[in-house]
Amino acid sequence: MQVLLTGGAGYIGSHTALCLLNAGHQVVALDNLNNSSPEALRRVEELTGKKAPLIVGDCTNEATVTSVFEQYKIDAVIHFAGLKAVGESVVKPLDYYQNNLDATMTLCRVMPKFGCKVLVFSSSATVYGTNQEMPLREDFPTGCTNPYGWTKWISERILTDVAHADPTRSFVLLRYFNPIGAHESGRIGEDPTGIPNNLMPYICQVASGKLDHLRVFGNDYPTKDGTGERDYIHVMDLAEGHLAAIEFAAKHEGVEIFNLGTGIPYSVLDIVRAFEQANGLKIPYEITPRRPGDIAVCYADPKRARDTLHWQAKRDLTTMCHDAWNWQKHNPQGYGK
Ligand code: NAD
Ligand code: UD1
Repeated sequence: MQVLLTGGAGYIGSHTALCLLNAGHQVVALDNLNNSSPEALRRVEELTGKKAPLIVGDCTNEATVTSVFEQYKIDAVIHFAGLKAVGESVVKPLDYYQNNLDATMTLCRVMPKFGCKVLVFSSSATVYGTNQEMPLREDFPTGCTNPYGWTKWISERILTDVAHADPTRSFVLLRYFNPIGAHESGRIGEDPTGIPNNLMPYICQVASGKLDHLRVFGNDYPTKDGTGERDYIHVMDLAEGHLAAIEFAAKHEGVEIFNLGTGIPYSVLDIVRAFEQANGLKIPYEITPRRPGDIAVCYADPKRARDTLHWQAKRDLTTMCHDAWNWQKHNPQGYGK
């Protein structure tokens, strides 16, 4: 298949591009480079020996998206493009609603003009809101606590309604848990701008000496050691989940939702220890108050993806920590943008 990856130069998009190319598919990326570098896809080409063309443009612009479909015979879309910083979304909600929702709606409008019915969407475990019961199953109630989360929730709603209006469409909504790590080569990885918000990139910058120490946000949660527990998934496992999802979607109609997680919760201190052991490094940390908006525990029931997509995460926590650091130590300035 020829697959359009919106946001294909980003962290998850670039790893998925590599995975699709290695599986014999063709890719084209549409990315406005708002949070990424063209170097990521250049390195994907270097690793695969195959073309990963990048069109620099905005997915909210109907003329731009139309011209991509005119230029390439697109069989399916994986829609990664979006703004993703939770804190920023609270400060600039309109930017988030406009970018993330317009992008989804623009794709929905343009795709059928070219007979393209298949779309895989990057959703997030954040749509489960403050659900208490774990593990989280796809049929649990949803609801969000910040504008970023609502853009995912509303995009899911839009895609569901559009697929109901045209039952020949095939949409797969993937709810990611916490992607970390990098391709084993250390050539592509996560390249956050500024001080990272998320745990693993923060730890990597402490390990490299860029940041002084980790702040562990709270040790008074009702968890085994008091620190927050999450479902960390290797980004290459996540990428392979997209391959399974796109191949499934091409043979189905209607809307399907899948969690992409491992089903295993690890605490912040588990991650610190695993990182130290995997890489022979010390991560200094201090316990600080809870981060506002954080929940105690969040992990997936991964059964539906296993049974229906025949996909499950394979890489363990040691591999995730090793690969995250391998990328960071070889690319201390990320892609150097
Ligand atoms: P990323 O920022 O690395 O990638 C997103 C890409 O989209 C970037 O390259 C950015 O430049 C591009 N982009 C943003 N708006 C665009 C627009 N209007 N037109 C064209 N390109 C645009 O983020 P990521 O971690 O690779 O995340 C990919 C998707 O997965 C996002 O939708 C994100 O919300 C979602 N997601 C990510 C995580 C995570 O922890 N990384 C978790 C759950 C869901
Ligand atoms: C974040 C996003 C969420 C997104 C998810 C997926 C926020 C508030 N939420 O959630 O919307 O779906 O990523 O990747 O950004 N921690 C520390 N110190 C740090 C950073 C994090 O102790 O410097 C802790 C957090 O309190 C949490 C865990 O580490 O318990 C993971 O944090 P993070 O990587 O930010 O992910 P989430 O909170 O799950």
